[in-house]
Amino acid sequence: MKILLLGCGGQVGWELQRALAPLGELLALGHAGAEGLCGDFCDPAGLRATVDAVAPDVIVNAAAHTAVDKAESEPDLARRINAEAVGVLAEAAARHQAWLVHYSTDYVFDGSGTRPWQEDDATGPLSVYGRTKLEGEQAIRASGCAHLIFRTSWVYAARGGNFAKTMLRLAGERERLAVIADQIGAPTGADLIADVTAHALRAALSRPELGGTYHLVASGETSWHTYAGFVFDTARALGKDLKVAEVAPISTADYPTPATRPLNSRLDTGKLQHTFGLHLPHWQQGVARMLHEIL
Ligand SMILES: NC(=O)c1ccc[n+]([C@@H]2O[C@H](COP(=O)([O-])OP(=O)(O)OC[C@H]3O[C@@H](n4cnc5c(N)ncnc54)[C@H](OP(=O)(O)O)[C@@H]3O)[C@@H](O)[C@H]2O)c1
Repeated sequence: MKILLLGCGGQVGWELQRALAPLGELLALGHAGAEGLCGDFCDPAGLRATVDAVAPDVIVNAAAHTAVDKAESEPDLARRINAEAVGVLAEAAARHQAWLVHYSTDYVFDGSGTRPWQEDDATGPLSVYGRTKLEGEQAIRASGCAHLIFRTSWVYAARGGNFAKTMLRLAGERERLAVIADQIGAPTGADLIADVTAHALRAALSRPELGGTYHLVASGETSWHTYAGFVFDTARALGKDLKVAEVAPISTADYPTPATRPLNSRLDTGKLQHTFGLHLPHWQQGVARMLHEIL
């Protein structure tokens, strides 16, 4: 089996290189491409030619325009990467009768209420990022290709920058921090996303009726404020010296950003766990593990 992985240099893409390797012959392409193959999502003809040349059984797309605030001022670029290029991949997957595995986001929802969102709940993105990611999902469904779309949230990885690392840096410099306390979601490790992808893909390859859209996040829920507190407690328990003495909870309204973020980012993972017989660990387990790795 041939697997074409795109966006292999991102948080999830990097972990997918590890998790997908045992499933088949893996060709991993980053933004810059390799071996004369294009990996640039701003080059639709190049992307199409890549799929035609590789003729994969599975395409896994981990590339995206993920700079949520920046997307507000460059909507055309965000749409090209998150929607139009995804449509090109979906059309090529359909032509090659290949599976397309893709990632989407809690930001397709409007963040109202407190109930965890289910896969078929009405969407209502609040930002350019959320809208273009939703358009990407819609392009995949319209193409008729066999697919798995995993909506996830608050992704972190040991490699690269993340919220926990930023908080640790600030906590080493300042005595007082203010962190948003009214956005609720689940920090989810790129390693967990990659491992679940491999398990689900393997099952779907032999049972195509399992294709569809699934919510994939760690168990439990938290706010950014409580998440930061957990990071500081764990770091101190590991012997890290932090200057911060007070972590004040603030509201989203107190911290304006170009992109509006959903308050309720809870995603219901019942469908994923039940369909694939998987167990999703608590978010604290993955974050603690990541902190052990980086500290
Ligand atoms: N990060 C989150 O909190 C979060 C939350 C919910 C859902 N998701 C979704 O999860 C998936 C994986 O996200 P992630 O956190 O792994 O993102 P990431 O770390 O930001 O990685 C995104 C990757 O996309 C690549 N990319 C950007 N523009 C490109 C282009 N024009 N052509 C080719 N590649 C391009 C980037 O490469 P360069 O760096 O070289 O440009 C990078 O390797 C995405 O679909 C994202 O929407 C993420």
